[in-house]
Amino acid sequence: MELKGTGFTIRGWKKGDEVSLQKHANNPKVSACLMDRFPSPYTLEAAMYWVDNLLDQDPLINFAITIDDEVIGGIGMEPRQDVYRKTAILGYWLSEELWGKGIMPEAVKLVTNYAFTQLDLIRLQASVYNKNPASMRVLEKAGYQKEGVMRNAVIKNGIIMDEHLYAILKQ
Ligand SMILES: CC(C)(COP(=O)(O)OP(=O)(O)OC[C@H]1O[C@@H](n2cnc3c(N)ncnc32)[C@H](O)[C@@H]1OP(=O)(O)O)[C@@H](O)C(=O)NCCC(=O)NCCS
Repeated sequence: MELKGTGFTIRGWKKGDEVSLQKHANNPKVSACLMDRFPSPYTLEAAMYWVDNLLDQDPLINFAITIDDEVIGGIGMEPRQDVYRKTAILGYWLSEELWGKGIMPEAVKLVTNYAFTQLDLIRLQASVYNKNPASMRVLEKAGYQKEGVMRNAVIKNGIIMDEHLYAILKQ
C-alpha cells in the first residue's frame, strides 16, 4: 500500500529503512514535541527495533514518509480501545531538513482519508503541546478542529505544558 504525495510517498516500514530513520529521527528538535517513547537520542538499535516490529503489520497503521525511498519522517495511528475503539490517535514527525514545505499537512490529509476509507474508524484525534504552533497549523490545514485544551496535562523534558486536542470526524 502506498499513498502518493507531492514529491513524497507514504508506505509501510521495511527492512533497509533503519539507517535513514535513525539519521532523521535523531534530532532533539524532532523529539521535543513527541512522547518520551520516541527515543532521544535515536539510536540505530532503536530504529531496528521499530522497523522489526512493524514488518508484518495488518492492517497498516504506521507509515514511513519517504523521498526517493529514503525515510524522511513517520506518521501513524494508535487505535483506542473499548468504548473508544472507533477512534485512533494520530502522530507524526518530519526531518528538520524538510520543515516548512507543506509536506506534513498533505501527509495528514492522505492518512486521514486512508483511515476513514480503509479502517473502521469514525474519528481521528491528535494531541499537540502548547509550544508547537507549527503542528497546530498542520492539523488546521488538514481540516482538524481544536476541541479543547487540557491544562498542565504534559511534562516533557521537565517542563509542564498544556495539551491541545484536535480532531476530525468521518462524516
Ligand atoms: C510539526 C511538523 C510536523 C510540521 O511539518 P511541516 O511539513 O514542516 O509543516 P508546514 O510545512 O505546514 O509548516 C508548518 C506551518 O506552521 C507554521 N509555523 C511554524 N512555526 C510557527 C510558529 N512558531 N508559530 C506559528 N506558526 C508557525 C508555518 O508558517 C506553517 O504554516 P503556513 O503554511 O500556514 O505558513 C514538523 O515541524 C515536525 O516534524 N516537528 C517535530 C515533530 C512534531 O512536532 N510532531 C508533531 C507532534 S504533535
